[in-house]
Amino acid sequence: MEIKKVGVLGCGLMGSGIAQVAAMAGFDVTSLEVEQKFLDKGFAGIEKSLAKFAEKGTIKETPQAIRARLKGTTKKEDLADCDIIVEAVIENVEEKKKMYSALDAIVKKEAIFASNTSSISITELLTAAKRPERFIGLHFFNPVPLMKLVEVVRTIATADEVYETAYEFGKNLGKVPVRTSDKTGFIVNRLLVPYMLDAIRAYEEGVGSIEDIDQAMKLGCGYPMGPFTLLDFVGLDTTYYITHVMYDEFKERRFASPPLLKRLVMAGWYGRKSGRGFYDYADPANPKPNKL
Ligand SMILES: NC(=O)c1ccc[n+]([C@@H]2O[C@H](COP(=O)([O-])OP(=O)(O)OC[C@H]3O[C@@H](n4cnc5c(N)ncnc54)[C@H](O)[C@@H]3O)[C@@H](O)[C@H]2O)c1
Repeated sequence: MEIKKVGVLGCGLMGSGIAQVAAMAGFDVTSLEVEQKFLDKGFAGIEKSLAKFAEKGTIKETPQAIRARLKGTTKKEDLADCDIIVEAVIENVEEKKKMYSALDAIVKKEAIFASNTSSISITELLTAAKRPERFIGLHFFNPVPLMKLVEVVRTIATADEVYETAYEFGKNLGKVPVRTSDKTGFIVNRLLVPYMLDAIRAYEEGVGSIEDIDQAMKLGCGYPMGPFTLLDFVGLDTTYYITHVMYDEFKERRFASPPLLKRLVMAGWYGRKSGRGFYDYADPANPKPNKL
């Protein structure tokens, strides 16, 4: 099966990035949003990013030529002839299921439905449409235009041909696809979340300061950033939400939120985006560790 037309649901942080890389890779893209203002915001971000790529000379086409392959709509009917739908709407199971159920009646039968969810079970989502064998996960990373990885997630119902088409699609987007199955967290979060939570526990137990734990993991392991810098970047609210989903699935302590993470989230200290988390970002170029 050949993919030519791509539909993207949601034009927020991830949806706009997915639409951008698909247009950069030569696909015709239609992005669906609830209101025009979200499309305007998403496309403005895409235009800014394309201009940066052009400045660096890393794209062969002009930003205008790439932009011309992108359309925005607020009508589901405009996605009827898409070959693949990549859903990146808010992380809410009922909202996602409503979308899939409505689109199932509109989008052509052969089209593949993919979700970019980080924590919701793909198998749960596929129950909302009548195409279980044509349903997969495509988990991209933020910022999508720069991060090379995409996790291609299969469920027990996924048809081999659909899975391989999605895997090739990931490659055609210029990403490096990895194969994984519908187990909560997939590969990256399954390993990353317990690591970040362990860093918080180590701090709670007095193993080291925030700065020293970050420095140790950077210089001792060659990681580009330490766990607390990473937690603040990902968002402590997002991490806290994921701990609930993962703990609920596996019932293992390593996925449970440490008390300090809960306290920070309750206080509204979400990390970089709220100006305070494990670090204080009053001077964003020079974050200072908070006394916690
Ligand atoms: N933020 C990340 O780092 C990250 C990484 C990987 C995966 N994800 C996943 O990507 C998805 C989107 O996350 P995000 O960070 O881009 O969120 P976001 O809030 O930036 O964007 C979500 C967008 O979906 C739109 N939307 C909501 N309901 C809609 C509907 N019915 N139809 C069309 N559009 C609708 C919203 O208007 C919003 O613009 C989530 O499932 C999340 O788990 C996020």
